Amino acid sequence: MGRIPLRPSPAGHELLGLDTLPDWDQVFGMPGPLELEIGCGAGGFAIEHARRHPKSRCVAFEWRKKYAREVAFRGEQAGLKNLKVIEGDARLEVPRLFKPGSLCVIHLQFPDPWWKRAHQKRAILQPDFTRYLLTLLTPGGRFDFRTDVQDVGERGIKALEAAGFHNPLGPGVFHPSDPEEAPSTRERRYLASGAPVYRARLVKP
Ligand SMILES: C[S@@+](CC[C@H](N)C(=O)[O-])C[C@H]1O[C@@H](n2cnc3c(N)ncnc32)[C@H](O)[C@@H]1O
Repeated sequence: MGRIPLRPSPAGHELLGLDTLPDWDQVFGMPGPLELEIGCGAGGFAIEHARRHPKSRCVAFEWRKKYAREVAFRGEQAGLKNLKVIEGDARLEVPRLFKPGSLCVIHLQFPDPWWKRAHQKRAILQPDFTRYLLTLLTPGGRFDFRTDVQDVGERGIKALEAAGFHNPLGPGVFHPSDPEEAPSTRERRYLASGAPVYRARLVKP
């Protein structure tokens, strides 16, 4: 995406700074299960997942404008009425957008590993935010977590379990790969090279 110019229209800005929670039936023009993706990057998963699941309503957050606008543009070009991309910091904006128990699935794929200790506060799975994400899911709702970094995977599962998510495979156990799942942009690279991907699929009890 390096050479693509920044598209002028901000993605999903009409959903930022609202006084009340949005009515998602109105936003999408249809009812249906609501899914959240945090950090969609170049959008490989968001676009393909929305295409494969036309009845699901997918909200994808990305704080890098270039990516967010490009994914929104590609979604529109593909006629995906069930995908909404929002450019912004998910940690700040998600609490203004979803009511508790309203989400069916949360996707977090290949989050930045933030190697430096000083940067680790930028990680998505901070204890408070992880507990908060649990409240947004409906009972039985899923957390889909994927990474190429084993240590990030292990810490991620621990953080999710500590927040109250249930791991049906047993504590700390990764989920096997699922050919039905749409791969993310990064994941495609690892699948092509044979590099390992660590997955977790936890549920809200
Ligand atoms: C390593 S990339 C992975 C992108 C994509 N999920 C994939 O698998 O191809 C992580 C993405 O998360 C985005 N990101 C990180 N923190 C974010 C936040 N707080 N809000 C929105 N996006 C965020 C980054 O800009 C980056 O595009």
